[in-house]
Amino acid sequence: MSNIKALQWRYATKKFNPEKILSDKKINILKEAFNLTATSYGLQPLKMVVVRNKGLQELLKSASWGQQQLNTASHVLVICIEKKIDKNFIEQYFRRVKYIRETPDEILDPFKNSLVNSFESKAEDEVHSWAINQAYLTLGTLLTVCASEEIDACPMEGFEPDKYDELLNLNAHNLKSVLALPVGYRAEDDMFSEFKKVRRPLNDIIIEVN
Ligand SMILES: Cc1cc2nc3c(=O)[nH]c(=O)nc-3n(C[C@H](O)[C@H](O)[C@H](O)COP(=O)(O)O)c2cc1C
Repeated sequence: MSNIKALQWRYATKKFNPEKILSDKKINILKEAFNLTATSYGLQPLKMVVVRNKGLQELLKSASWGQQQLNTASHVLVICIEKKIDKNFIEQYFRRVKYIRETPDEILDPFKNSLVNSFESKAEDEVHSWAINQAYLTLGTLLTVCASEEIDACPMEGFEPDKYDELLNLNAHNLKSVLALPVGYRAEDDMFSEFKKVRRPLNDIIIEVN
């Protein structure tokens, strides 16, 4: 499928076929895509929880205003932000750069120090908003990869994050849930799959500057 065909094929799936389960190969593609998403400074202030447990999915549904995507999906991906983005977190990134690219400290240190200073000067809320932006970017990557892999998905922010955090024990991992992405295969009777796309006309949203 071309990129545009794939994006036209995809839609925010409201009901999945609960009998159709994504293969490990497909789930691994989504894990890799999550990891390969670009993030600001490359810091990856994110983790993703992969839920494949119907009992837990029922509980997630009740923390999501009863939306049936949660319990009918093959898997539910929950994109979380790290709550503690401190000096140590940033230094870990630079240790990875050094190890993987064999970049010497004298090259890395000036940028590392300026990044640590910059993050230390920000309020916690500001750092969290920055991390949340990275979560949304990741959602975009995952939606596009889902479309090209013919995996159905529903991007979701319509849930109670505090309840998700409790159900998934996220506090213990210093994480906060931001977005959910139930994935799987559309149910044959999901009427939303037949709906035409509603989008603004292209000439209304693109400004050409020549
Ligand atoms: C960040 C985000 C959050 C969303 N949250 C929900 C949600 O909680 N429940 C839902 O059914 N759809 C949700 N949607 C789906 C949108 O309503 C849908 O993408 C939009 O109407 C465009 O339709 P399409 O994706 O089928 O092309 C969300 C989409 C985005 C991008």
